[in-house]
Amino acid sequence: MHVCGMLMVLCVGSFSSTRADLPLVDQLMTDYWDWRISSSPEFASFVGIHDYDDQLDSMTLAEYEHRLAKSHEFLDRVTSILDVNMTLSHADEVNLRILKEEVLTYIDGYPYMGFLLPLSYSEGVHVDFERLVTWMVFETAEDYEKLLGRLDLLPQQLVEVEALMREGVARGVVQHAITMKGVGESLGRFVVETAEESPLWSTFTSFPDGFTEEQIQSLQERARNVITSKVSPAFETLKNYVTQEYVTRPDIAVTSLPDGIQRYDQLLKFHTSTNLGVADIHQLGLDEVTRIEGEMAKVIEELGYDLSVPEFSAMIRNDSNFYLNDADEMMAYFERLSYEVIPPELSKVFVNLPETELQLVARPSPDGTAAFYLTGSYDGSRPGIFYVNTYFYDKQPTYEIMTLSLHEGNPGHHLQGSHSLESSSMPFFRRVMEDRNYYQAPSRFPMNTGFLEGWGLYSESLGFDLGLFGDPYDRYGHYSFEIFRACRLVVDTGIHALGWTRQEAVDFMTQHSALSLKNIENEVDRYITQPGQAVAYKVGQLTISNLRARAAAELGEAFDVRKFHDLVLDSAGPLVLLEEEVNAWIAAGGGK
Ligand SMILES: *[C@@H]1O[C@H](CO)[C@@H](O)[C@H](O)[C@H]1NC(C)=O
Ligand SMILES: *[C@@H]1O[C@H](CO)[C@@H](O)[C@H](O)[C@H]1NC(C)=O
Repeated sequence: MHVCGMLMVLCVGSFSSTRADLPLVDQLMTDYWDWRISSSPEFASFVGIHDYDDQLDSMTLAEYEHRLAKSHEFLDRVTSILDVNMTLSHADEVNLRILKEEVLTYIDGYPYMGFLLPLSYSEGVHVDFERLVTWMVFETAEDYEKLLGRLDLLPQQLVEVEALMREGVARGVVQHAITMKGVGESLGRFVVETAEESPLWSTFTSFPDGFTEEQIQSLQERARNVITSKVSPAFETLKNYVTQEYVTRPDIAVTSLPDGIQRYDQLLKFHTSTNLGVADIHQLGLDEVTRIEGEMAKVIEELGYDLSVPEFSAMIRNDSNFYLNDADEMMAYFERLSYEVIPPELSKVFVNLPETELQLVARPSPDGTAAFYLTGSYDGSRPGIFYVNTYFYDKQPTYEIMTLSLHEGNPGHHLQGSHSLESSSMPFFRRVMEDRNYYQAPSRFPMNTGFLEGWGLYSESLGFDLGLFGDPYDRYGHYSFEIFRACRLVVDTGIHALGWTRQEAVDFMTQHSALSLKNIENEVDRYITQPGQAVAYKVGQLTISNLRARAAAELGEAFDVRKFHDLVLDSAGPLVLLEEEVNAWIAAGGGK
């Protein structure tokens, strides 16, 4: 099972951008956000803004070039304010510098043209359109009209996807066969004789109350038409291209593409938002694996066993005492930790606890994800939701649950996400992460994985500060999660820059983590498909914990961890900026 990341979905309603009296900085932030949303209608739907639900993202080279030009335009506006206004408030200055990083990320990544790789087993039109439909609302006839509008535009988008892939082949920017596994069959699901066989039909099978029979029949008739006469043939064309013509690369390493190591360096920079290079990251991973293994050995000794780490892991993994009897018992276990055990301890290390409620929801699903978090809505109508996959109650050992809870709920994703959501000083573009189109990296706007997942992983270690790891088995579970993130540093750099084979990567993970072979293979294929992404978690956590250690050492008596955390949460964004903020805070004596 995976320790899943967060899925951020915010409902922020509509915006009005025509406020002539806005101060310069606010106007810039508003213009930027309005442009991002209106030029990416699929992102808008994801965020919960439904004004563009009848449109699709344009996926032409011209569009990506246009984004480059707009990025330069916003960069000019940011720098002109930063250069001229010497009386900027601190909040404005931070927001401007983050906006500057935001557009510079696009500009610096653009030459690598990640958008030429639009299909993989985990992303692309064959999975994304169905996801997109789940972000839409279906209450009125107009809502259904919007979906019909999108279906009508879909064939054109498929043509654009093929054109991008052809451009990629011409430039030598192509996927490996592992990344393309199953894509042909997945595209084939949309090639149908009758609309009812299409995965796109389901939205037209049930309608809210109040629709007349006539309305329903008319909508269904038009859906049938567009699905069979336009969408299905377009998918067939793309499928034929993918299965018969597309040329994959022979080498799993992303450095085998043009610009080799620069491309991978840019990907690492994109995902970690630091300047750490391949060698640094690889060594950091090896050091962390050794350190964490030492901690695991100590726990084994404390428990009185004379076993190696792999032997002990195998023993407890197969001990029925660590498994719950049914889904209800599993939920009760999670609820007790998140509602009763963790909250009373939080004020030990936090000054301002966010108000957004945390709700645990059982979500039984065979998809392999242990748990994930969904941010609360901007208007407060929906709490933050921590989804627990109860389907696997018999595969989820209890000694991992404390760590999972710290990561997804409090003080992890829920506390951090709610802090941003409730912040009065963060502009919209800082509050919402575009959790889609990973393949475009490094040629896209930032996802701040280093900060967001770094905080999640750092929060796991806060279990020590909060006094929650008294049970040695919980502590062992914590380390087994941590070592698996440390392995990623070694394996990702191994695959992409040090000539490792897939088998070598699998072997390393098998030797040093407690994951099952199936999960390890999935993990390694994910690293091949999204170079550098999985590295961000550990790098982010280490950045935060190293900054904390340095602040504590330099400030001595004056160091207050609660104020430190407040500063970190206010500095959500690129890790380089967080570092600057902490440095300035130390220099100023660690106050506020
Ligand atoms: C400079 O920024 C501050 C706020 O950060 C604002 O109040 C002030 O009006 C700005 N000055 C100019 C000349 O734009
Ligand atoms: C777990 O233990 C049971 C009973 O001792 C055994 O039958 C089973 O094969 C073991 N499973 C694993 C994965 O080791």
